[in-house]
Amino acid sequence: MKLILLGPPGAGKGTQAEILSEKLNVKTISTGVMLRTAIKEKTELGETASRYINDGKLVPDDVMVGIVKERLSQKDCKNGFILDGFPRTIAQADALADAGIDIDKVLLIDVSDETVIKRLSGRRECSGCGTPYHVDFNPSEKDGVCDKCGGELICRKDDNEETIKNRLSIYHEQTEPIKAYYEKLGKLVAAKGREELKDTTQEVFAALGIGETK
Ligand code: AP5
Ligand code: MG
Repeated sequence: MKLILLGPPGAGKGTQAEILSEKLNVKTISTGVMLRTAIKEKTELGETASRYINDGKLVPDDVMVGIVKERLSQKDCKNGFILDGFPRTIAQADALADAGIDIDKVLLIDVSDETVIKRLSGRRECSGCGTPYHVDFNPSEKDGVCDKCGGELICRKDDNEETIKNRLSIYHEQTEPIKAYYEKLGKLVAAKGREELKDTTQEVFAALGIGETK
């Protein structure tokens, strides 16, 4: 399965990617996680990325296309992958097609702007592996510690109200047009982001036709 997850910030892309990755046994490639790792490791990419991410702006297309193409060419993506956070512009979607990367489905997870703000203000993310949690809706077993890798849970720098508003407006302007792009190709399926995490997962599985959740 070569799957793209599309949706506004805080829609639950990262959360559903974790679940789908286990179910479908394919890797999740999250551009957000890749960029935050680069920032943490103080690489050249990290330096470029931090200039954009901290204001909620998009990292330039040529930078993103380069790192994603390189990542998808690796062995562990041969049998499929889940792309979380890419493409985010029509130019990025065109670049995937130009590179001959054929996508099976594009799953849109849709939530209102109001829900986004509520979700992101309570989000905690693992500083080690990037797994997302929520203080109320999806808490870790042990407070402040990642269930998967034992890493420290932190608030993301771009999860403050002003930056969230910027991210939302950029999503509506630059990323939402991708819906029509993939709809025309007959690849778009949609799931409504529900209040309860398990209900969203059920919607996601139904939209993808991949059987029952546990
Ligand atoms: P990225 O990391 O991709 O951020 P985003 O798209 O803004 O999305 P988020 O990660 O904030 O949300 P999510 O949908 O993954 O939701 P989550 O599962 O965490 O990108 C960050 C930045 O990097 C961008 O702003 C840009 O600068 C740059 N960038 C990345 N890719 C790029 C690209 N291709 N081109 C250019 N720039 C790029 O869930 C949110 C919260 O809600 C969590 O706390 C979760 O526990 C909770 N939750 C999830 N589902 C539910 C539910 N159903 N009910 C209740 N709570 C829920
Ligand atoms: Mg995410």
